[in-house]
Amino acid sequence: NQLELELEAIEKGGYEHFMLKEIFEQPKSIADCLRGRLDPKSGRLVLGGLRDYMNKFNNAERIIITACGTSWHAGLVAEYLFEEFARVPVEVEYASEFRYRNPVITDKDFIIAISQSGETADTLAAIELAKSKGATIFGVCNVVGSSIPRTTHAGCYTHAGPEIGVASTKAFTAQISVLTMMALKLGYQRGTLPESKYILMLHELADIPAKVEKALQTNDAVKKIAEKYKDARNMLYLGRGYNFPVALEGALKLKEISYIHAEGYPAAEMKHGPIALIDEEMPVIFIATLDSSYEKVVSNIQEVKARKGKVIAVVTEGDKQVKALADHVIEIPPTNEAFTPLLSVIPLQLLSYHIAVMRGCNVDQPRNLAKSVTVE
Ligand code: AGP
Repeated sequence: NQLELELEAIEKGGYEHFMLKEIFEQPKSIADCLRGRLDPKSGRLVLGGLRDYMNKFNNAERIIITACGTSWHAGLVAEYLFEEFARVPVEVEYASEFRYRNPVITDKDFIIAISQSGETADTLAAIELAKSKGATIFGVCNVVGSSIPRTTHAGCYTHAGPEIGVASTKAFTAQISVLTMMALKLGYQRGTLPESKYILMLHELADIPAKVEKALQTNDAVKKIAEKYKDARNMLYLGRGYNFPVALEGALKLKEISYIHAEGYPAAEMKHGPIALIDEEMPVIFIATLDSSYEKVVSNIQEVKARKGKVIAVVTEGDKQVKALADHVIEIPPTNEAFTPLLSVIPLQLLSYHIAVMRGCNVDQPRNLAKSVTVE
């Protein structure tokens, strides 16, 4: 009825869809997530939920991250973060596989369960299993008071605020923000992250909300690119290192709301199969920011261009090499390599959004999908 429609319009805050509103909320939702926890001036990182379990966390012989979908992608980013900064071995597990695989779990394991809704059935079952083996379970959830935070030993809320769009956007960047703080804290406490670097990283992390704001300014450029590729039947998303999980996430976003088939791959895997798909019809989205694998990604772009594929590249501001090769570039601000996913995912969220709108899809409630998957 009219009242409901008007209420919904108010909730959307002037945006056409919840998803777009949530994408644009990210400077604020990330800032909310960091607020009261991160203080670069004093070098303090306070994660209240960790306080009673800090010993377990510091002495963990292994971290196992379990989640589904987008939350699993955030877990992959965390694997890179924890291994780089804290030198702890990390495994990232699909909850649905983990729960049935009879995995090796001990009381020395620290399990991190990531979930926006806190209600995902597979993630809950994976938690119960790990708990029964004596592991410590830590939740990274968005919905306060949901089932996962109630079954875990401890946890940190992501404080992203309600996420209504089925396609997860602001919850993903908030999850990564929490996991980044955890990795920096652990690295500092274990002595694997030197104090000077730790302080620099804290300052850089505090600058992320403002940089996300800049990344959102790519919206008009991304919309023009969406116009060109909205009728594609397939798309390939490629990235390396910290941007590999972002490639997976970009592809998932496109699939779920626009129904275009998309695959995410680590760029170097292209030559082991996906390169056979490349022809003049195939748009390939590269995340080619200026980082330790930049030159290698540039040569992957050359390989795609040599086969007449269309290249859309997310690059660092001021980039020249990729610009000379790609059909379209989208510029994002520079940051520490480890924080890149928080920026590089933004144009990919926008791209999937605009393509879905242009195809007339129901962006906020895509077919066959539910916001939280409470059944197996
Ligand atoms: C994300 O866009 C998806 N809708 C989906 O993959 C989701 O991330 C997954 O179902 C996990 O949900 P959760 O974070 O609430 O546990």
